Amino acid sequence: MTAQLIDGNALSRQLRTQVAQRTTALKSRGITPGLAVVLVGNNPASQVYVRNKVKACEDVGFHSVLEQYDATMTEAQLLARVDALNNDPGIHGILVQLPLPKHIADHKVIEAISPQKDVDGFHVASAGALMVGEVGFKACTPYGCMKMLESIGMQDLKGKHAVVIGRSNIVGKPMAMMLLAANATVTVCHSGTKDLAAMTRQADIVVAAVGKRNVLTADMVKPGAVVIDVGMNRNDEGKLCGDVDFDGVRQVAGWITPVPGGVGPMTITMLLVNTLEAAERL
Ligand code: GUN
Repeated sequence: MTAQLIDGNALSRQLRTQVAQRTTALKSRGITPGLAVVLVGNNPASQVYVRNKVKACEDVGFHSVLEQYDATMTEAQLLARVDALNNDPGIHGILVQLPLPKHIADHKVIEAISPQKDVDGFHVASAGALMVGEVGFKACTPYGCMKMLESIGMQDLKGKHAVVIGRSNIVGKPMAMMLLAANATVTVCHSGTKDLAAMTRQADIVVAAVGKRNVLTADMVKPGAVVIDVGMNRNDEGKLCGDVDFDGVRQVAGWITPVPGGVGPMTITMLLVNTLEAAERL
């Protein structure tokens, strides 16, 4: 079997067209969705990510501001900026790019963002809302993975076993919650889980979100399974690759997301969706 691709670029284009249309409608009522992106320090990867986020906002007609600060910014100064953005009526979403410099406590800054503007979905209020099925913002990467599943007709996952590899606060844990909410049976693993292959071989859906190459190889996948690759790594030639051994796994899986062109563009797309909804909820 050769797996079918779930094309994150194509799905993103579709969804972003819808976002642009809803933005036009909102603007006709005098509201322009606004996103503030805050970057502290000069992490080169973060600089690329935030530029892409701001560009994506401009493409769908949002107002967006990029605030860049020196790595010497204090925690108190950053908290003061977040407070100002919380009170800025032109800003509907606030994103503080992680990681922050070591002298600043990530969670303290995230908890300072108003939950109504937490378009990253990282605030404890957002995570809690997801857990109890209340309205809140969903973390963008797992939300994008759920949209990819939906795009292949996997909306209700009753009777399906999903295995998530990776337990980060920004992907693994919220991913597990979203899969549960869609009625899947969910197993959350660590890359070091004993006999990980025995777990993944039972899975109808595998989500790999570890940040390490070749976490999932062909022998670990049930024929026909759906494989979602959240990883972003570089191979020996310096080329972008995911956590999944793509060439091997695609021979076994039913569906697979590529890297690049899979989950990556979906993360930014869901950020746009969340920001639009923040503006629409006003
Ligand atoms: N760093 C890596 N991914 C993300 C993300 O989705 N949001 C933010 N704010 N920082 C990140």
